[in-house]
Amino acid sequence: MKIAVVGATGLVGTVMLKVLEERNFPLTELIPVASEKSVGKEITFKGKKFKVVNMETAIAMKPDVALFSAGGNTSLKYAPLFAEAGTTVIDNSSAWRMDPSKKLIVPEVNGHELSIDDKIIANPNCSTIQMVVALKPLHDKYRIKRVVVSTYQSVTGTGVKAVAQMMNERKGILDGPMAYPHQIDLNVIPQIDVFEENGYTKEEMKMIKETRKIMGDDSIRVTATTVRIPVMGGHSESVNIEFESEFDVAEIRSILEKTEGIIVVDDIANLKYPMPKDAHEKDEVFVGRIRRDESLPNTVNMWIVADNLRKGAATNTVQIAEFLLRKELI
Ligand code: A2P
Repeated sequence: MKIAVVGATGLVGTVMLKVLEERNFPLTELIPVASEKSVGKEITFKGKKFKVVNMETAIAMKPDVALFSAGGNTSLKYAPLFAEAGTTVIDNSSAWRMDPSKKLIVPEVNGHELSIDDKIIANPNCSTIQMVVALKPLHDKYRIKRVVVSTYQSVTGTGVKAVAQMMNERKGILDGPMAYPHQIDLNVIPQIDVFEENGYTKEEMKMIKETRKIMGDDSIRVTATTVRIPVMGGHSESVNIEFESEFDVAEIRSILEKTEGIIVVDDIANLKYPMPKDAHEKDEVFVGRIRRDESLPNTVNMWIVADNLRKGAATNTVQIAEFLLRKELI
């Protein structure tokens, strides 16, 4: 299995390489791809050195799978060229997510939708992935009517420049390069991505639209407020879920405990609940603070945390490739 990692020198690309290595993905050849300025750079994978190549060279090498994390425009231009060469592309950008002809996949939620004909597969937005992993088994059991989510998102979701901004500010350097329109350290910014005409941000609208697409149910009502906080390690979400039918909190906890990819950390007597510092570098989604919303019937509150570079990006992409392989779709 020949695998290309497109954006291999970037933040997500680097984690993809780490995840492929850790999970012992059965690859026979690795093709690291980046922009012209990185061509020839060496990447170490499983103790061996691999030279970074450009897009054209990578396409000509006809990889079986290309894991893309090189931005939306790069993906729009190059993903179809890889696909034409017979490569299955799994793309981390938002370029293809809402395209009706492309599947938007979280393997444990809707992997069954994939077929051998899917040559460009979209990886959802990080904050959406961790939420739907918890929503799906609950929707299957109680039918979700409405979700109200507020996020507390890590600076790693913005990239290296944002991490540098926060670290500079932490050292008292306030005039360094800015990834955000405001100071992030000792602050909270209620804006992720640009604003749309309806007053919501693009990130909020992604959570609304992508959730419905992945869950395959347009009747689920979702509203979101997405917020950047000065944290690394993972995104946290306060999620309020209203169901069609009555539930039992203990049963919800037990359903989530049995769900693949979820770890329930919910022991308030011992002050245990999910936190980004504990989710960091883990592949699972952590759920806690599960409690009844006493202001509404059939409604529950929970707190969901995951490493946005792992399950929110690199891990989910690699899991899609693993799923395709297991089902003999590549
Ligand atoms: P490079 O390091 O050569 O710029 P991040 O999101 O962390 O900024 O990473 C983006 C990744 O996408 C990097 O690996 C970057 O490579 C790569 N990239 C950006 N533009 C292109 C392009 N036109 N062709 C190939 N790779 C690209």
